[in-house]
Amino acid sequence: MSGLVHLTRDGDIGIITINNPPVNALSIGVPEGMAAAIQTCCKDPSVKAMILIGGGTTFIAGADIKEFEKITSGEKPIGNALFQLFPLLENCSKPIIAAIHGTALGGGLETAMCCHYRVAAASARVGQPEVKLGLIPGAGGTQRLPRLIGLAKAAEICAGGELVSAAEAARIGILDQLIDGDLLQGAIAFARQVIAKGGVPCKTSDRPIPPYDPQAMSAVKHAVAKRSRGLLAPQKAIEAVEAASLPFEEGLQREAELFAECLFSEQSKALIHVFFGEREVSKIPGIGQEVSKLPIRVAAVVGAGTMGGGIAMSYANAGIPVLLKETGQEALERGLANLRKNYAATVQKGRMTQAEMEQRWELIQPTLNYDRFTEADIVVEAVFEGMELKKQVFAELEKVTRPDAILASNTSTLDIDAIATATSRPQQVIGHHFFSPANVMRLLEIVRGKETSPQVIATSMALAKTLKKVGVLVGNCHGFVGNRMFGPYQREAQFLVEEGASVQEVDAALVDFGMALGPFSVADLAGLDVAWRIRHEVQHQVPQGTRQPLVLDTLYERGRYGQKTGAGWYRYPDGSRMAIPDPDVQQWIEEKSHQSGIVRRDISKEEIVERVLYPLINEGAKILAEGIAARAVDIDMIYLYGYGFPAYRGGPMWYADTVGLHRVYERICQFEQQHGAEWSPAPLLKKLAESGKKFSDLDRDRSINRD
Ligand code: 3HC
Ligand code: NAI
Repeated sequence: MSGLVHLTRDGDIGIITINNPPVNALSIGVPEGMAAAIQTCCKDPSVKAMILIGGGTTFIAGADIKEFEKITSGEKPIGNALFQLFPLLENCSKPIIAAIHGTALGGGLETAMCCHYRVAAASARVGQPEVKLGLIPGAGGTQRLPRLIGLAKAAEICAGGELVSAAEAARIGILDQLIDGDLLQGAIAFARQVIAKGGVPCKTSDRPIPPYDPQAMSAVKHAVAKRSRGLLAPQKAIEAVEAASLPFEEGLQREAELFAECLFSEQSKALIHVFFGEREVSKIPGIGQEVSKLPIRVAAVVGAGTMGGGIAMSYANAGIPVLLKETGQEALERGLANLRKNYAATVQKGRMTQAEMEQRWELIQPTLNYDRFTEADIVVEAVFEGMELKKQVFAELEKVTRPDAILASNTSTLDIDAIATATSRPQQVIGHHFFSPANVMRLLEIVRGKETSPQVIATSMALAKTLKKVGVLVGNCHGFVGNRMFGPYQREAQFLVEEGASVQEVDAALVDFGMALGPFSVADLAGLDVAWRIRHEVQHQVPQGTRQPLVLDTLYERGRYGQKTGAGWYRYPDGSRMAIPDPDVQQWIEEKSHQSGIVRRDISKEEIVERVLYPLINEGAKILAEGIAARAVDIDMIYLYGYGFPAYRGGPMWYADTVGLHRVYERICQFEQQHGAEWSPAPLLKKLAESGKKFSDLDRDRSINRD
């Protein structure tokens, strides 16, 4: 038996414990160890039943995701050991009871369904989250789950990937019993009842599928289609679940074919990159686990505008009391009214109870002064964007906060080091760049100043997790990582409409690519006044003769600031969010093109995508070379969680790898010849392309160097 699985006894019951921390994944050795333990128990006449339980904090979180790359690269075949274990489990002549705590996910739930009974702690959760990795359950999940709970419910769970609470799982028939108190003792008691009743194993695969409900199935299909635009796996999961109507072995065969299709898809590789990437970004080169973190018990936010309100909600949602300071009663009341409206909408959508809302509301403490700021472990400044005002606020904060308090700025463009000069404790100053709406968007760009202390960085990274954000550490430069890369993306979108594409063609090409919104819809949402102001602020740095977008000024001068004024690149009639193409805008664009001597032409969808995404990738390469982002994966996570980049493409740098850096580099060189120096390729991109390498190779080298 492997060291990963232990067999012990409680009288006539064999207890098989899996010990593969942290999550008891089914890594090499685990299925083999379970199989050996079962065989030992089967041979021993004194064993009447078995319990399968996880050691540590959880049951089994599924197959070992790290193994999938070995399969797709041809190093290893698909799940041999698992496929040998499952018939052994299910066909065992002695009853086996899965005892679940923590989570039973993917291959973990599939293992549990091969057992003859399932009991669980009330806090446990189960699920088939494979679709989040671009996969479907591949070890019988799509065939056994329908036999327990029916086709429609199984399709919902397999295609949606959401976890199910133990109470719900017991209600719908995945679990046989919930256990109060000690799980193992409860499972032993359950096993003894099974033995007392004759100990006959009950095979899931032998069960008839509960009656089919076509209406419920079509509702599931509709919901899945709506939620999973561009995704392959959810559709395949439904197809596999429907194959459960076939004889069991045939259904399994169909599941295996669909699983392999998904596993070898680019989508799955990208989503697995995202799974590990999301965890990788929290590991900061040079800042180890040993760096102590400051406790964050009370927070304060300065400015109750769009961002300050959302940031205060994020703290309250995490159960952290937060002071919210404004300059005057009217602004404070306006901010609070917005907060209240936001919470009420969440309650109305059924995502929060009224009682939860009241609890969170209580945690937000409005104020017009700094009286209680000594209580704050962290202050997040979210006043208007302007260096003088920011410095003034930080100078005030220095006086009213404790010396160990973290002083964070939510600035989206300003120099964190310059802001830090307003205090005598620059080591406590850091950027916490939330994205709008701050209570919803998961990205938190954490901007390290040149003097920010490792402890403040480590605390910020941990805090991001507490706030349920993905914290990504970046260096200090104009626009940091996300907005700096977004500049050339937006610029090229505007050039494309000047050259012949329409606003809606550009947006549609990017939405087809998978972006949540096209560049012009994003601009209208963020506010064209903001874009105009940022462009004019940095105008003096732009070399003479550089091509400038022609139409933004026209829209700005006409007061078309986007959704907030009912018109921008599109029209939004009667305050709606529905973007209507505007012939006036098309006319202004054509006039400007004509005046500038641009000959308009048809532009293909492919060119549109290349023209807007490649400068973004090129800027990303410059950012990497400068060390503003530590790894390509950090940039990928920023784009996924802050800019609506499709997860199934892995992020811009991963996407560039999949296109091939040589191809990206060549196109950038061509665009440089056609459109000028703005397109000059990043030296790092050139180097990688010429050496046949990828950004992910660079990440691998960097992480090896770190270790
Ligand atoms: N395989 C390999 N490593 C895994 C893993 C898995 N299935 N699940 C988690 N890990 C690793 C994480 O990468 C992380 O590693 P790190 O510490 O080096 O960064 C560590 O375990 C802890 O994970 P988390 O930080 O995510 O811990 P949490 O406590 O926040 O969450 C969890 C635990 C809910 C289990 C979460 O890790 C999770 O959702 N895991 C993935 C579950 C999943 O997708 N299972 C299906 C796998 S595919 C499958 O089973 C196919 C089958 O049908 C054949
Ligand atoms: P906003 O204009 O909605 O709110 C700013 C608030 O700060 C106003 O309510 C104002 O009364 C208040 N304020 C000004 N001086 C103050 C002081 N001394 N004390 C207390 N309150 C004061 O601005 P918004 O959009 O919330 O932006 C705030 C910051 O967040 C800016 O630095 C901006 O660049 C940044 N940011 C904005 C994003 C956005 O999408 N709006 C996204 C990310 C960052």
